[in-house]
Amino acid sequence: ARLAILLSGRGSNMVALVQAVQHGGLAGLAEVAVVFSNKPDAPGLATAAALGCPTASLGSQGRKRAEFDAEVVEILRGYQPDYVVLAGYMRILSPTFIRAFAGRIVNIHPADTHQHQGLHAYEWAFDNRLPETKITVHLVDEGLDTGPILAQHPVDLRGAETLAEVERRGLAVEHFLYADTLARLIRGELPTPAAAPVATAPNP
Ligand code: GRF
Repeated sequence: ARLAILLSGRGSNMVALVQAVQHGGLAGLAEVAVVFSNKPDAPGLATAAALGCPTASLGSQGRKRAEFDAEVVEILRGYQPDYVVLAGYMRILSPTFIRAFAGRIVNIHPADTHQHQGLHAYEWAFDNRLPETKITVHLVDEGLDTGPILAQHPVDLRGAETLAEVERRGLAVEHFLYADTLARLIRGELPTPAAAPVATAPNP
């Protein structure tokens, strides 16, 4: 399967995915068609190029969402992706974008999407002194972090004294869970989206 990986920043999940494609659980299953960013100067884009991935970017600053997304859809289509994999892509996707790749857009959220949506999920877990949080990989629908859940994995936060420690533990789980879930998705081992639960609860 051909993956278009979208990022806006650091790109640690992208690195984990590229490594899985090159010599891990996605080897022989997936290839990186392109790493795309809405921020031409995103550190993750340079990292992707250094790893040998095709890269593309289009600056989104000051752009209207629907127009910008229509251009991004055209760019991505040129790379013929089977899946669009969001990895720290800090844009809400317009309906046009979601329909263009319906059922084939995947996101990772660093919390249980039934309990928390949107930004600052690690801060939320840390501020509430949660003993555990859950990393969620889900399909993207037209809501914010509301799509059908593909996989979740707990992160033990007991004894985590700082936000940095919460993030360190969480990212370690993100990095294996994302590749593992994509491998299962590509192999057809996951339940069909229609059968998966849909998050509806608002933030507490
Ligand atoms: C990750 O915590 C991811 O779950 C969230 O944004 C962050 C991106 O980090 N959606 P990175 O750019 O992959 O390092």
